Amino acid sequence: MGGPMLELDDIQSGVLRPRPTPYVATYVLCRIDEGIAGRELMRRLSGIVSSAAQPKSSGRDTWVSVALTFQGLKALGVPQTSLNTFSPQFQEGMAARAKKLGDTGESSPENWETPLGSPDVHVVVTAVSTETEHLESAMERARKAYRELPGITALWRQDCHVRPGEREAFGFRDGIGHPAVEGSGIPSSNPNERPFKAGEFVLGYPDEMGGTPAIPQPEVLGRNGSYVVFRKLHQRVAAFRRYLKQNSTSPQAEELLAAKMMGRWRSGAPLALCPMHDNPELGADPNRNNDFLFKQDDPIGYHTPAGSHIRRMNPRDADIAGVARIHRMIRRGTSYGPELPEGVLEDDGVDRGLMFAFIGAHLGRQFEFVQAEWMNDSSFFGGTAGDDPIAGAHDGESTFDIPNRPLRRRLRGLAPFVVTRGGEYCFLPGLRALRWLGDLKT
Ligand code: HEM
Repeated sequence: MGGPMLELDDIQSGVLRPRPTPYVATYVLCRIDEGIAGRELMRRLSGIVSSAAQPKSSGRDTWVSVALTFQGLKALGVPQTSLNTFSPQFQEGMAARAKKLGDTGESSPENWETPLGSPDVHVVVTAVSTETEHLESAMERARKAYRELPGITALWRQDCHVRPGEREAFGFRDGIGHPAVEGSGIPSSNPNERPFKAGEFVLGYPDEMGGTPAIPQPEVLGRNGSYVVFRKLHQRVAAFRRYLKQNSTSPQAEELLAAKMMGRWRSGAPLALCPMHDNPELGADPNRNNDFLFKQDDPIGYHTPAGSHIRRMNPRDADIAGVARIHRMIRRGTSYGPELPEGVLEDDGVDRGLMFAFIGAHLGRQFEFVQAEWMNDSSFFGGTAGDDPIAGAHDGESTFDIPNRPLRRRLRGLAPFVVTRGGEYCFLPGLRALRWLGDLKT
């Protein structure tokens, strides 16, 4: 595979290992009121966080990750000269980047859930497991680390769980497409996609631009870290269902319309491989459900519209302005909230959606670029109007084009189906860096 050896024993497990499935997960946000307590917390947590080198076995499919916001690094007492070496987007924080990200109107930071986006959020502790029992014991270990520590306040908690068939709230199978990382030993979900240079996702290694980019300093702090983006995305399931119904003449047409918006049938089967009918067996088969490209078989998008969610988020080899390979991301999303019972078309007022998680080494050219240029604009593929039909920041006037012969179909009036409830830009340090933070002398 080439490239320098990845220091797996220093990289947090959640960076490289796909999240287990089925899964349960918990996110806890903490504030550091006293630097000395924050440093003690880092020391304690460094003994709990598992590395990407740990073998995979039952009971080991459980891990705890720790990430810090810029304000969190400050609260720990990280010197200003070091703080200045972090990416500018991270230093600003997600709330300050709202306009760029399309977080306006209902999604704007003044409407976010407290304390998301506030300077109080310092530490994000995440635990993921295949089983509730293992999750609980992992969380108990993490809680022990902060509960009896004066100077640390737990502020917020979000529980997540897999839905039947690993489907997100709109009903589509999620967690299918992942880039492979050189040296991680984890194969690509798409046999047509070469593994990526590790520096795309882990700091301190060569990346796809041909060099090794500067990392946060000192080296011990930056090396083997990654940036993480957490976003709590509320999904308006009833509105999405109503839109499908109002724009279709039959239940079959509704399913096809949903598939055109996503680029996959709800089973996960890609339109690229089965454009006319769903194929649930294909959707559930990880050896086949991501084995496709666009350019040769479907340059126009007659099967998978260029504006569909998966083709925007990963245009693969399709003709676009720019190079898709430098905008890839690792996703670790988990669903929250109860199901909206099948067939219900009225909103029940219950919060449900996705805790979206991005992992990568470049907030600017990966997450922010994809969110701004590919999610909320369409000029990169030559589109004239419209944003992502699933997760775009629609204003009620948005359109979505479905290429068709002899005439394309243009859908109008897309309402916002996804509302941002808040989020944070974080730094996920390597294990040595966590210990270094614990031992910081200020
Ligand atoms: C609530 C909002 C969202 C929903 C319901 C959603 C749902 C999905 C689903 C069902 C898939 C297909 C399955 C898979 O490949 O894993 C997918 C793929 C993907 N999504 Fe989203 N997503 C959402 C938001 C986002 C956001 C905010 C981003 C990034 C800014 C994003 C980036 C991606 C990427 C990169 C893929 C993989 C595309 C591929 O490789 O084919 N998604 N999403």
